[in-house]
Amino acid sequence: MRLAIIGYGNIAKTLVEQLQKTSYLPLESLCVLTIPERRDEVLLSLQTDYIGLAKVIRVVTNSYDLIADEPDFIVECAGHDAVEQYVPSILMAGKNVLVVSVGALATRSIEQRLKTAALKGGAKLTLVSGAIGGIDLLSALNSVEDLQVTYKGIKPPMAWAGTPAQDAIDLGNITSATMFFKGTAKEAAIQYPKNANVAATLAIAGVGFEKTQVMLIADPNVISNRHEYQVRSLISNYSICLENMPLKGNAKTSILTVYSILREIKNYISPINI
Ligand SMILES: NC(=O)c1ccc[n+]([C@@H]2O[C@H](COP(=O)([O-])OP(=O)(O)OC[C@H]3O[C@@H](n4cnc5c(N)ncnc54)[C@H](O)[C@@H]3O)[C@@H](O)[C@H]2O)c1
Repeated sequence: MRLAIIGYGNIAKTLVEQLQKTSYLPLESLCVLTIPERRDEVLLSLQTDYIGLAKVIRVVTNSYDLIADEPDFIVECAGHDAVEQYVPSILMAGKNVLVVSVGALATRSIEQRLKTAALKGGAKLTLVSGAIGGIDLLSALNSVEDLQVTYKGIKPPMAWAGTPAQDAIDLGNITSATMFFKGTAKEAAIQYPKNANVAATLAIAGVGFEKTQVMLIADPNVISNRHEYQVRSLISNYSICLENMPLKGNAKTSILTVYSILREIKNYISPINI
């Protein structure tokens, strides 16, 4: 397998760590796209910390060099701006991309650019289920009349530091679960872009950004990131509650996200997909 990863932050590093524990190795090649300032550091880390991971390791700083590496599986895990910067040209070159920064698609113009590029290039953009589950069911129901989706994102107070939540409530001193945002997935994506991935995934799979209801909550009594959502429809009603452990070094990100990327890689390799 010729794997390419866009970005080399928490998710990418944990993905590489997990890949090294799997039986798919060695990869034919691993190509990482990073910002130019981090090129040498990323190359050194891959060559010293992950010996045996891939027969060939390359670190590139633009999408053209990534395409030239001829990867057969590309994972974006670099952020919303990186989706806009690289993914359209990669799709246009006929390469499929698995996107982790799903919240980027909350901006209609970006979603449209990605769609057009995928159509022109004959490529597919896949959105990873990431930190949430049950997306197969929600997506199956999305043409059903009267579908309603309500999502609650509950994290420890400090996981909301650096977001508008810190102006809305006193994150350091709350003693019980406190809701600081209630609105649509569209509004959540604009105000909380770094936490918008789950709401965006639910919106895209289900009833869209304007109709998906979102509540964001800081709770000093939780240590995990909790994602709850309720689906009501004429065909099926269901509720899901996930308690996800955060990644080392990033309280905002659930480690489950990495496992959902691994699932996509497994399905790519395996003759039977599930
Ligand atoms: N779908 C989900 O459920 C889900 C869950 C968690 C996180 N995410 C998203 O996944 C993405 C990655 O998360 P993370 O925790 O690894 O973040 P991170 O900040 O730890 O890592 C991002 C990395 O990308 C690099 N980067 C940024 N801009 C770049 C660019 N233009 N070109 C190349 N590299 C660039 C940064 O240097 C950094 O190393 C984020 O967008 C996050 O919002 C999605």
